[in-house]
Amino acid sequence: MNNIDIKKPIEDYDTNYFDQSYLDVYKKILVDGLQEQIDFLTSIIDPDTESNILDFFCCNGRHILQLSDMGFHTTGLDINKQYLELIQQRSQGKVQTILADGREYVGQENYDVVLNLENSIGYIEDYEDNLKIIQSIHSCLRSGGKFILTLINRDYLVRNFHSLAWFGNGEGKYMLEKRRFDPTTSVLHIEEKRLTVDGPEKNYRLNMRLFSATEINLMLSSSGFKVLDIFGDFDRSPYRMNSPQMLYICEKI
Ligand SMILES: C[S@@+](CC[C@H](N)C(=O)[O-])C[C@H]1O[C@@H](n2cnc3c(N)ncnc32)[C@H](O)[C@@H]1O
Repeated sequence: MNNIDIKKPIEDYDTNYFDQSYLDVYKKILVDGLQEQIDFLTSIIDPDTESNILDFFCCNGRHILQLSDMGFHTTGLDINKQYLELIQQRSQGKVQTILADGREYVGQENYDVVLNLENSIGYIEDYEDNLKIIQSIHSCLRSGGKFILTLINRDYLVRNFHSLAWFGNGEGKYMLEKRRFDPTTSVLHIEEKRLTVDGPEKNYRLNMRLFSATEINLMLSSSGFKVLDIFGDFDRSPYRMNSPQMLYICEKI
């Protein structure tokens, strides 16, 4: 794992949103639907010509560990050292890891496919920072390589907005969220409480930037990507205003 000095982690008011308790409380959600996501990815990636995959913002490696087991050469990049250590342990060093701030990372154009999944770019609020991430991803891909980007559809969230949300992981850990959406900035302001039946509660704050398809199209084209397809869900249904997701399949020009 590369050693770098991370000066500016994600903008979570120093509440360390992506810690062990994130993996604990979201445990069920991180597994639910995962197989459908893997099936979606492998329906797009050609194993003969696109075997070298980078997951940009890989978290605990839930996608790349499975892709590695299927024979792909996988690498995960994340700002969180603890998550990368989990990947190294679970893959016994087979999955490569890069500890880096995705806003600053300059790649070597050596990957066939780059993934950025589960609204990862949105965890950083600033538009310019998000553009830098897309440009970094561009620098990691070989010419003609694929970029698969999955995001929450802003239009869907606005039409189905809930200011309160909660769920449990089925093992005595719960998350309660208070949300406020600012339509002028497209920022979702989240106050999150994580509770366990037998431990102290912890409080987190995060601002999440949501995007319209129009904005994403502009960011992609100005960064040197051609959009090949936009799906609305992992079942490959077409993207519509009512689709919960925006799943972009792009090619580096
Ligand atoms: C929503 S989570 C994980 C998404 C992952 N692709 C998945 O589907 O599980 C977002 C991840 O982005 C990472 N992250 C946030 N800001 C980052 C940055 N500036 N550079 C690299 N990783 C970052 C966090 O540590 C976290 O693991």
